[in-house]
This record gives sequence, C-alpha cells and structure tokens, in this order.
Amino acid sequence: MTHVSPASGESSSALTPDPRQRQLAAAMKRHQYRPDALIEVLHTAQELFGYLEPELLLPIAHRLRLPPSQVYGVATFYHVFSLEPKGVHRCVVCMGTACFINGAAQLLRTLERATHLQAGETSGDRQFSLSTARCLGACGVAPAVVFDDQLAGHQTPETVRDRLHTCLSGTPAP
Ligand code: FES
Repeated sequence: MTHVSPASGESSSALTPDPRQRQLAAAMKRHQYRPDALIEVLHTAQELFGYLEPELLLPIAHRLRLPPSQVYGVATFYHVFSLEPKGVHRCVVCMGTACFINGAAQLLRTLERATHLQAGETSGDRQFSLSTARCLGACGVAPAVVFDDQLAGHQTPETVRDRLHTCLSGTPAP
C-alpha cells in the first residue's frame, strides 16, 4: 500500500506515523484533561480507531487522572462504545470538512455499494467493517481514508475500490 505523508502530501514507501494518536492527544488537551470530558474523549478515540482498543484506555485514564477501572467501566457501560474490533478488515472514511469538500461522500457511497454495508456496519462474516470519522488529522491530503490502520490520502472512487479489493483479496490484516 502506498503511504502518504500528511505533512508533505507526497507518496512514499516509508511508514506513515499514525496521525490518530496526535488527534486523540489534541482532543484531551482541548478538554484540558478534565475528568468530566471522559465520554467525549472516548467518542473521539472510537471515531479515530474504529473501536476502543484496551491499549487506548490506560493512557486516557492516565491523562484524565481517572482510575483505569472507571474508564473501563464507562467504556463497557454504554452500548455506543465497542472494545472489540468489528471486522478482520476495517475501513474508516473521514467525513470532516476538508475531506467532505474533496469528495468524501462519493468515496463512502462507493464503498457502501461495493460492500453492501452502511457506515457503522460489519459484514455478516465479520471480514469487513465500514465506519466514518469527523477528522483523521490528515486534512492536508484530503480526502483521507484509513484501511486496516494505514492512512491513504488523496483518495478517489477508483483508488478506494482498488484498496478495498486488495483488502479483501486474502491479504491478512495487520
Ligand atoms: S477533515 Fe479529513 S483528515 Fe481532517
């Protein structure tokens, strides 16, 4: 998969740092690390990562100065949060402003038609999950899509169709 540097917008074969970690850190900072911002921060984390990886909960607890048990308790109490990856392969389409004005809705429609899924759904065989996010922190390469935790910028309906095909062609997810 071609990696795109959010900073330069140039394609390269080097690994791209995951901008979602920066987005999550920025969200906590924006809330001034207030403990009462926990639900909002969890929403942001799930939007960015597709689900609440257990490895995300401990740093959130630490930064918001909350007991890990409380963070875990809130994450499991609300049905809107998921602690499990929904599908073997995951695709997150950014619907934030920069991506939206650069054709994100068309990308989402293309993926929904190709997979017969709606955003937020997982295929019956649990092979593929499709979701959306408000901003992936890669506005410079909008429209951006994350396939199996790898950011792809400057996407078109053709490139997302190709990436979907690669994703489902039997290549194991990372
Ligand atoms: S709006 Fe899509 S990456 Fe920021």
